[in-house]
Amino acid sequence: MSKSSKYISRQSDDTGFIAWSDEDNQIWHELITRQLSVVEGKACDEYMAGLEKLQLPTDRIPQLEEVSKVLRATTGWECAEVPALISFDKFFELLANKRFPVATFIRSREEFDYLQEPDIFHEIFGHCAMLTNPAFAEFTHIYGKLGLAASKQDRVYLARLYWFTIEFGLLNTPNGLRIYGGGILSSPGETQYALESDIPERKAFDAVDVLRTPYRIDIMQPIYFMIERIDQLFDIAHLDMMALVEQAKALGLHAPKFPPKEKQAS
Ligand SMILES: [Fe+2]
Repeated sequence: MSKSSKYISRQSDDTGFIAWSDEDNQIWHELITRQLSVVEGKACDEYMAGLEKLQLPTDRIPQLEEVSKVLRATTGWECAEVPALISFDKFFELLANKRFPVATFIRSREEFDYLQEPDIFHEIFGHCAMLTNPAFAEFTHIYGKLGLAASKQDRVYLARLYWFTIEFGLLNTPNGLRIYGGGILSSPGETQYALESDIPERKAFDAVDVLRTPYRIDIMQPIYFMIERIDQLFDIAHLDMMALVEQAKALGLHAPKFPPKEKQAS
């Protein structure tokens, strides 16, 4: 969620139907066709199983109800249509109620490869396949409940947990590294980089370590955290996370592994 967006979400009609333009559908088509071949062999099995269940169309943007129907049947989640920008309160409230916020706009052609705002391609292709998995769904639900109850300061710590799992999480399987984070899986460049590049550091998941690790949203990640099994997300969800946030606060943040953001010329 950024502070401002040039995008405006499309609104559904009384029946929940969104009338996407031909150009919107064409952009979806190009994004999904390319990314389906990129994630093959790189996304984790649970993600691929989720994609199979979703049966996403490749010639048009799916209606949210098509995706919600599958999520309801698998984990009890559904998509929630939201504007391009929502408050943190709203974000956590939706997750706490098993409703995954989907901003109903799609990126412009100028930002085809990378945009900071999460668009419908990122939310559906990146996240909804994993939301068919019970451990991932439970983790996301509990995260929403924690965030809803947390102070503004504690939410900054929790955001790191979300970032290094739901967005940029890796899975260290006996068959090699795989991806489950939606921020990676909706980006062709980062899907390659996260698994194959020698540049980033890849560390075993440790909750306090994650809570102490700063990140930037506008660069390829210099560090990824790996879990061993997707079911480990059940265990992480049931840690006393707010006590771990207190530990992280007491220990302080790690030094950033990235250069400071350049000041924008005014
Ligand atoms: Fe996301």
